[in-house]
Amino acid sequence: MKFFLSQPNLDHDEFKEIKKIYNRQWLINGPVVKKFENNFKNKFHYKNATTVSSCTAGLELVLKSLDLKPKSEIIISSFNFISSGLVTLQQNLKPVFIDLKKNSFDICLDSLKKKINKNTGAIIVTHFNGYLQPINSIKKILKKYPKIKLIEDAAHVLGATDENKTYVGQKSYAAVFSFGPTKMITSAGMGGMVVSREKKLISNINELKSYGMSKSSYDRKKNAKSWVYEIKKLGNNYRMTEIQAAVGITQLKKLNYFINKRNILIKEYEKFLKNIKKINFQYSNFTTNRSVIYFVIILKNQLVRDSLAEYLREKNVGISVHWDPPLSNHYLFKKFSKKSDITNSILLAKKLITLPLHTKMTTKDVKKICKFIKNFFHEQN
Ligand SMILES: Cc1ncc(COP(=O)(O)O)c(C=O)c1O
Repeated sequence: MKFFLSQPNLDHDEFKEIKKIYNRQWLINGPVVKKFENNFKNKFHYKNATTVSSCTAGLELVLKSLDLKPKSEIIISSFNFISSGLVTLQQNLKPVFIDLKKNSFDICLDSLKKKINKNTGAIIVTHFNGYLQPINSIKKILKKYPKIKLIEDAAHVLGATDENKTYVGQKSYAAVFSFGPTKMITSAGMGGMVVSREKKLISNINELKSYGMSKSSYDRKKNAKSWVYEIKKLGNNYRMTEIQAAVGITQLKKLNYFINKRNILIKEYEKFLKNIKKINFQYSNFTTNRSVIYFVIILKNQLVRDSLAEYLREKNVGISVHWDPPLSNHYLFKKFSKKSDITNSILLAKKLITLPLHTKMTTKDVKKICKFIKNFFHEQN
């Protein structure tokens, strides 16, 4: 029997909506994308929202919209997915890496304070796997620096709420979500959403994602001379399709079910594994409602991590590590940080394993995987 690390949950509901788009034969710049943006905005009380082709594309367009001086500094977490680092370099800006707190997934606020200077243009905070970073404390630090923009990479935290029960993304300049296949909801494999209270930012992104056209064909179609548009900005084609949006709308309706189902599985995992002293679980003080996509465990050291990973792979258990090495240790980024500045991230990364977690799993699957893990530790003793 094979246990998949992750699986999307698409059924007839999504298929029915895809078929409607096929029958309508209107594939891009249409009403379904608009509807997805509205539904998303209303569900989480965001002021403005716009779809994009991916979270990475959204982050790129947010950074581009800031119009920062070349080589301005963008503070990002060393423990990170590639997106925030990539878009920083692509915009000719300089990534400045900050560490995590010791034995924690929370970014280290002292490390953040030390890295802020007159060249800092923005901070991109990456929330990790369903739990929120200390946005309120970060905002307090930034009060003295009103020009520095706070951006959230919210790919992992759709629907999560902070200490004040506020949805992620309401307190920052902009937040960007991902609807990739392993995320809490998917818009048929790829897609993203940018939210912001700044209407101007969202209008700018609407132009940039559509080649830089002053008006999309959807908005022009009611006008006389509907072919007329201006190009003033260096845009790209980062739009979401009608099919992706149709799937996104349907998945969004199931969000609570997806979060709850994963929570049930996580509790089951924790119940079976809690007696193994060599395993720790992810934890955060800044989240009231978590929205966990992966089940991440923390082992004692790299040796145990690597042997357990190999043991589980042989048993056909899909595992991964999110993320080792930290982003700042990858070749492309090495020159932007000193190892001594990011020791906690390096240490934590070596101890992690991601175990299977998705809504098609059963508690029986969890039990079987936990049995393998127990056997592994038993054999070790
Ligand atoms: C934290 C984080 N940010 C961004 C992304 C990229 O998302 P997308 O594939 O939608 O560009 C990922 C992808 O897994 C991610 O883990």
